[in-house]
Amino acid sequence: MRPKVYVTRLIPEEPLKKLQQNCDCRIWDGELPVPRDVLLREVQTADGLVSLLTDRIDATVMDGAPKLRVISNMAVGFDNVDIKEATKRRIVVCNTPEVLTETTADLAFALMSAAARRIGEGERIVRSGKWKTWGPMILLGQDIHHAMLGIIGLGRIGTEIAKRALGFDMKVIYCDRDRRPEMEKKLGIEYADLKTLLARSDFVTIHTPLTSETHHMIGEEQFKAMKKTAILVNTARGPIVDPKALYNALRDRLIAYAALDVTEPEPIPPDDPLLTLDNIVIVPHIGSASVATRTKMAMMAVDNLLAGLKGERPHHVVNPEVLAK
Ligand code: DGY
Repeated sequence: MRPKVYVTRLIPEEPLKKLQQNCDCRIWDGELPVPRDVLLREVQTADGLVSLLTDRIDATVMDGAPKLRVISNMAVGFDNVDIKEATKRRIVVCNTPEVLTETTADLAFALMSAAARRIGEGERIVRSGKWKTWGPMILLGQDIHHAMLGIIGLGRIGTEIAKRALGFDMKVIYCDRDRRPEMEKKLGIEYADLKTLLARSDFVTIHTPLTSETHHMIGEEQFKAMKKTAILVNTARGPIVDPKALYNALRDRLIAYAALDVTEPEPIPPDDPLLTLDNIVIVPHIGSASVATRTKMAMMAVDNLLAGLKGERPHHVVNPEVLAK
């Protein structure tokens, strides 16, 4: 009997084919996330699920899925899946780390540049026909080279950011739960606690997962601790930054600029006050969105799922205790 699998959105062709060759697949092929009622209906008979960060996979979904053995989330982050509930039910949960590291670091760096050099504002001026002349005082931004970069979370993506920053002759400091002496030595970077990092950095970039500890970890107090010229970049998860505090900080010029790939909520509503500000650039959660990387992520999600369904150990399991004999 071929396992039954539900896929919550169309994924790239090659991984999808592989899945279809090995399983009975049903797919939500809408442009928007699968509606909750459809998801709840589809999981009733599913052995495996390929989910996305836009799907809330909680106890209700799992309760309605008595046969579910593997949830393969096509993302490195898995805050959309209730891991505790999955583990309780001995459902294996997988993610897709590594393959998106460099692509996401590229985007974080692009956002940093976009904010520093006011690229969004410049583009709006050109498109609206307001570009009248070259001017010595027009759209002056900040230099990236030789500036101080503070990295919150020196995991895989944070480390790639550090490597890129060194190519721009930036000085790099980082904070993390665990100190990384070998990286400090290898890259010539410095450890600092969060408070010190915020006070010293010209650019602050966030690369930590969303957990109950990191929820709104950047709020009013942290903005007050930052330089008035500082630029904040978030490509991790929206709720790590308190959006109201961010709005106030940008409006009152407690910091100079922000660049976001992620927001709270997502998508950001068109009437969100942040969108009334000029000193912010926002893109729609595209950190890993290159053709090559999304294909690799989908292939990894499929391989994880197939391994889990065969009773093998998938390469990337976030709750390995489920597999312990
Ligand atoms: C992830 O994988 O967690 C990113 O946010 C999307 O690629």
